[in-house]
Amino acid sequence: MPLLELQINGVSRRLDVDPERSLLSVLRDDLDLTGAKYGCGEGQCGACTVLVDDRPTRSCLTKVASVAGRPLITIEGLERSGQLHPVQKAFAEADAMQCGYCTPGMIMESVALLRRQADPAAPEIVHALEGHICRCGTYDRIVRAVRRAAEATKGGTG
Ligand code: FES
Ligand code: FES
Repeated sequence: MPLLELQINGVSRRLDVDPERSLLSVLRDDLDLTGAKYGCGEGQCGACTVLVDDRPTRSCLTKVASVAGRPLITIEGLERSGQLHPVQKAFAEADAMQCGYCTPGMIMESVALLRRQADPAAPEIVHALEGHICRCGTYDRIVRAVRRAAEATKGGTG
């Protein structure tokens, strides 16, 4: 099999994997990047969301070959110099999780939202996150966390 080159969290990784496999399985099983979660496996829950070319992408439905050479960011790639990303910090401060299973996907979607729109109102946050399911029902706190991150950064979440 030809080697695939992935650009993950700013690091180039060459992998000998079946190009038909999902990006999610390669991240979790081959690269030990287990932040993105397997929820439904069908593109319905958002737990597996990562950024590809800065766009939120369901990694369970994405063939690994299709992202070769494109910049990928997973939840593990958000911190800088040991500091949590402002959105991660806001989720922790707002206690915006219970079991935490949906949290990486919610955070990646929120990071992408704040890059597009620095100061979204609550209905805009709800709209951006509507494809993400939280079985614990922490939606209100999640929206508050995203507002908190927007306030904290005033237009520059990185
Ligand atoms: S696991 Fe990918 S959307 Fe549910
Ligand atoms: S915090 Fe449990 S699924 Fe969202």
